[in-house]
Amino acid sequence: MRRHGFVFIDRIIHFATNFIHSIWRSSSAALLLLLLAYWFYGDFTIFLLLCLAILGTLYQYQDSLLYYPDQPSSSRMFVQQPYTIGLPSENLYLRTADGVRINAVFIKQPPVRLPFAPTIMFIHGNAGNIGHRLPFARELYHHCGVNVMLLEYRGYGKSDGVPSENGLKLDARAGLEYLRDRTDIDASMIIVFGRSLGGAVGIDLACQQLYTDAIRGLIVENSFTSIPAMGEVLFSALRLLPMFCFRNKFNSKSIVKSVRVPTLFLSGLSDELVPPRMMTELCNKSGAIFKRIVRFENGSHNGTWLCPDYYKCISFFIAQELNSKALVAP
Ligand SMILES: *[C@@H]1O[C@H](CO)[C@@H](O)[C@H](O)[C@H]1NC(C)=O
Ligand SMILES: *[C@@H]1O[C@H](CO)[C@@H](O)[C@H](O)[C@H]1NC(C)=O
Ligand SMILES: *[C@@H]1O[C@H](CO)[C@@H](O)[C@H](O)[C@H]1NC(C)=O
Repeated sequence: MRRHGFVFIDRIIHFATNFIHSIWRSSSAALLLLLLAYWFYGDFTIFLLLCLAILGTLYQYQDSLLYYPDQPSSSRMFVQQPYTIGLPSENLYLRTADGVRINAVFIKQPPVRLPFAPTIMFIHGNAGNIGHRLPFARELYHHCGVNVMLLEYRGYGKSDGVPSENGLKLDARAGLEYLRDRTDIDASMIIVFGRSLGGAVGIDLACQQLYTDAIRGLIVENSFTSIPAMGEVLFSALRLLPMFCFRNKFNSKSIVKSVRVPTLFLSGLSDELVPPRMMTELCNKSGAIFKRIVRFENGSHNGTWLCPDYYKCISFFIAQELNSKALVAP
């Protein structure tokens, strides 16, 4: 009996959720209808529904303020391949834990180096696709002698699905699991590298107990403390909104204390989007046994990788700091 009751309640909740969702998803047409109904009948219930619809529409709209898979235009149609700039690679399709098919490219060092080279899993920012990161990947590949996996988020480039906070985090886990299980590389030298939004995804990945052992090092570049904090930077009025109003939180600030993986923070001091103090704050709060922040005076949000000594700094982190005995946890 109990079970049946349970299923029934489940159905009702399911129905109600769907119903609310469909209201939220509905566009100005529904809003207009409700508005008209309210105009004619002045009913309090209709007023409430109206408020709900307005709030819901705003809530839904947040995704389109955060994820830009269509910028630049044609980003969903055309993804440049590594071979076009002379990089040997494999094109991969991975299946995430929730069944979404995502794309990735694995750019590999020549066969003699492949098994010994460290591997960097790069997770990009909120716009464009992995093809736009090829010039950066090429520099990383040559200067640091690493294999590079560029991971494509769901809803971006050639990946299926729709972006969401939880979805992006699952994508990163699928990427890491794939690398961890590869037998032709040194799976003990996997480094997760997240830039901007990718930094928040990388921090989340490094916090997961299940994956701590699979990650040798973490690199976070020009990332933010949380989406609400970024909202505040862009529109100070958002400070007044409680946390639950934010559909995407990416609350790195509150979870970074549980990162145990050695971490390098790369901070462009000329970042025109994310205030560099957020990187300082992330580094301060990080629970990593080894952490270091490197600042680049002329580093912009997108272009810190063009600064002098950038690759030297990453190479030093990988070759010296990650191999140092001091890093072995007690
Ligand atoms: C980070 O820590 C340093 C040294 O402890 C301190 O001077 C600085 O104010 C802190 N910054 C932030 C943003 O918390
Ligand atoms: C930053 O840019 C300015 C002006 O172009 C230049 O004078 C300065 O040397 C640069 N700093 C670094 C660290 O490259
Ligand atoms: C970041 O780079 C992309 C492409 O490289 C460019 O279109 C975009 O305007 C840049 N954004 C910022 C904030 O500089």
